[in-house]
Amino acid sequence: MLETSPPIPTYDIPGPEGRRVVAAESATVTTGTKTAPIVVKRASGLLVEDVDGNVFLDFTSGMVAATGHSHPKVAEAIAEQAERWLFINSPDFYSPLQAEVAERLVRLVPGLHSKKVFLCNSGTEANEAAIKATRWNKPTRKRLIAFIGAFHGRTMGANSMTASKIAQRARFTPNMPDVHHLPYATCYRCPYKMTYPNCDIWCARILEELYFKQLIPPDEVSAIFVEPIQGEGGYIVPPPEWVPIIRDIASRYGIAYVDDEVQAGMGKTGKMLAIEHFGVTANCTSLGKALGSGVAVAATVLDADLDFGEQGAHSNTFGGNGIALAAAKATLDVMEEERLVERAAELGGYFIAKLRELQERFVAIGDVRGKGLMLAVDFVTDRASRTPDPAFRDRVLKRCFLHGLMLLPCGFSALRFTPALVVDRTQIDRAVDILERAIREA
Ligand SMILES: Cc1ncc(COP(=O)(O)O)c(C=O)c1O
Repeated sequence: MLETSPPIPTYDIPGPEGRRVVAAESATVTTGTKTAPIVVKRASGLLVEDVDGNVFLDFTSGMVAATGHSHPKVAEAIAEQAERWLFINSPDFYSPLQAEVAERLVRLVPGLHSKKVFLCNSGTEANEAAIKATRWNKPTRKRLIAFIGAFHGRTMGANSMTASKIAQRARFTPNMPDVHHLPYATCYRCPYKMTYPNCDIWCARILEELYFKQLIPPDEVSAIFVEPIQGEGGYIVPPPEWVPIIRDIASRYGIAYVDDEVQAGMGKTGKMLAIEHFGVTANCTSLGKALGSGVAVAATVLDADLDFGEQGAHSNTFGGNGIALAAAKATLDVMEEERLVERAAELGGYFIAKLRELQERFVAIGDVRGKGLMLAVDFVTDRASRTPDPAFRDRVLKRCFLHGLMLLPCGFSALRFTPALVVDRTQIDRAVDILERAIREA
């Protein structure tokens, strides 16, 4: 039904039909995070058609629909499951489907201990479960540690750890008390103004050498929440030593290490989980977004000894509903059959090389970073100071939309690229061509 076709178009968005829908939604839907007036009619693979017939190449939805929009096998599995059963109270009853999905998730998460799974509906809910499980099992430990730039969700517990934009926190105080934030390992704009590797990874060691001596009693900390690659904060890849050092500190002080893979997980970085790039394992892993190819399904995979030890301490209603389970199972099948993790690694290499070529030609591109098909381009006012240029980034983004490429911003001044893992080289070439044109025009 949908095809990309050269030459690069220039759309007038929203079109007449789109304007009507935008007005209707604006009147009834609460203020969220709208980025562009693209009004979707249907989507398939990497392509999105709007209600006025414009066709976009979507380099945003791989974050969630990593198997591509409406992958036929996922759609079929959902339809079949809808005939079988849509809902049984999965936290209360049992099903072979739930047993299978939980078993596969346990196998998917590397770890030294046996694991258990809490099924839920969103990344924030997965992180809430991690907060509660670690607290339930370490009742004398009431503190949490997270990082500046982090995004762990928007419900009040997870929001207490989220720290990537002031708007996420302003007016919501008081947050959960005793959540401590440290700067993340942001080498491109080091918060300590140091340079890797001469810094000796001070941004990790400072936790033990300063915070644990002057601010945070370590034996009061239940968990440390870490994004292995910071997502909303700017697709920031920490240096290889950082995750292992934080992991080691957590182990030595009996603190649960929570690996938030909601954004970076499920193959995007060229490994099933992004933590695998760092050679360590976690006590608790939050999965979401791409786990259901677009269907709301998330999970907390935790060491069995972090399980809630009492019926009713934690549960929900929709976790493990039929559609979610069928979508997760089909997603895992498709990822295996189409070798999407390997594909992300291979095509990611091709893609980042093309973005680096662009960087050579445009001084406005300060940094190109990421792993696999989780990539970002960071715009600066000048390369020496690395001063973020969000206004330029926003102009580029707008031009990309007008020319038929869907992207999302992240961090102070970056654009992120998260195409579905079924993307091909022609689509990557096309995206880079549009980006190049957008940069020229901006
Ligand atoms: C790393 C990370 N954790 C948690 C969340 C929250 O997920 P959800 O929006 O499904 O609640 C997000 C969402 O962007 C995320 O990127």
